[in-house]
Amino acid sequence: MKPPWTLLLLGLLLCTLSARAVSKPNFVLMMVDDLGIGDLGCYGNTTLKTPHIDRLAADGVKLTQHIAASPLCTPSRAAFLTGRYPIRSGMASYGRVGVYIISAVSGGLPKEEITFAKILKEQGYATALIGKWHLGLNCDHNTDHCHHPSSLGFDHFYGIPMTNLRDCQSGHGSIFYNIQNHIPYRDIGVALTALLVLHAKGLVLISRRLAVCLGVTLFMTIALFFLWVLTFPYFNCFLMRGHEVVEQPYASENLTQKMTKEATEFLERNSAKPFLLFFSFLQVHTALFASPAFRGQSQHGLYGDAVLEVDWSVGQIMKTLEQLKLKDNTLVYFTSDQGPHLEEISIHGEVHRGHNGIYKGGKSTNWEGGIRVPGILNWPGKLPGGKVIDEVTSNMDLFPSVVNLAGASIPSDRVQHAQVQLLDLQNKEDCKVRLGLFFTP
Ligand SMILES: *[C@@H]1O[C@H](CO)[C@@H](O)[C@H](O)[C@H]1NC(C)=O
Repeated sequence: MKPPWTLLLLGLLLCTLSARAVSKPNFVLMMVDDLGIGDLGCYGNTTLKTPHIDRLAADGVKLTQHIAASPLCTPSRAAFLTGRYPIRSGMASYGRVGVYIISAVSGGLPKEEITFAKILKEQGYATALIGKWHLGLNCDHNTDHCHHPSSLGFDHFYGIPMTNLRDCQSGHGSIFYNIQNHIPYRDIGVALTALLVLHAKGLVLISRRLAVCLGVTLFMTIALFFLWVLTFPYFNCFLMRGHEVVEQPYASENLTQKMTKEATEFLERNSAKPFLLFFSFLQVHTALFASPAFRGQSQHGLYGDAVLEVDWSVGQIMKTLEQLKLKDNTLVYFTSDQGPHLEEISIHGEVHRGHNGIYKGGKSTNWEGGIRVPGILNWPGKLPGGKVIDEVTSNMDLFPSVVNLAGASIPSDRVQHAQVQLLDLQNKEDCKVRLGLFFTP
């Protein structure tokens, strides 16, 4: 049975260039990790300054009911790239852990999935992913790279196949901090050692077999603890350029600076041909970090500093587009993959959280705060400035919009959830930008 589709259509004024005259548009899609809708000036934050992001909204379209397909990174990003609910690509978990936490997993976004990057590549676009991927890496062995961004349409990749984890930075503890905290390694170690010493001195009588068992347990407890703590950053936290590992473990300090440089160089290198840049920030996920120039600069601790750095980076991207005179032919999109983390406590006891404005809940919940994200579209001359749209839109809607604008069509061999055409360039008579979307209830 066909689901009852709801069709929403709304028109926006668009009044300059004749649509057909222009060459293929470029795309710069920026996604911040765990950023809250209430962290941005243009969404009502008065104490955290985000002038560059605010400018994007002031000169473009601000979506107030923009929904991520999932409140977690891996599924949300799979949906964003494919325009399909995460469950379609197998990226929706029904267990407790809904994201990849180890780079050695054999799972990932299947390479049979069609991302907008794949389609644009076929249309002659230069395609790049800079930053976080979090959709798997290998299938069978550690070099097959079957889930690597290059298998899913991105010619150029500079970033991390995983996500930023506490374990990736020294002094931040572990994502398994809670488990480590709840397993009293030290007490177990002390108790077992005492028992074995007493046994050796003949003060406690236990069988030889039990003594051997306890000895092995003690050894394993210590070995596992050290193995985990010492090796985790090496096998999980690496930075890649293309198929090469370039830093292992990576240093998060200045990483946003390096990625911003990589992004602007990509824009410069490809300014003469159509391009797609997906800039996927590692910030503002925990463990939080910020480059020295931003540390201590906000009123909101390290979290606020990280937001300031993201805003700076957006400013650099926009400055580069301006210098290259590409702004009029580039659709810029800014969003977050889900709501902010609200509960995380650093090992120093600080609460590391973003802000959701009036919405309840945060990351990993299906309350509003978990899935409602900022959504800004900017395209001078094509999209009106300062427009606010309150219709429900989804991060999956970017898929058909980008595909259609690039002159390609949406795959017809699979269920596609989003059918939005944000901009109808064929419709030049009434000079309208159309935002039409279907969604399943
Ligand atoms: C702005 O964002 C910060 C950081 O998330 C938050 O602590 C603060 O409450 C927000 N301020 C306002 C006025 O929304």
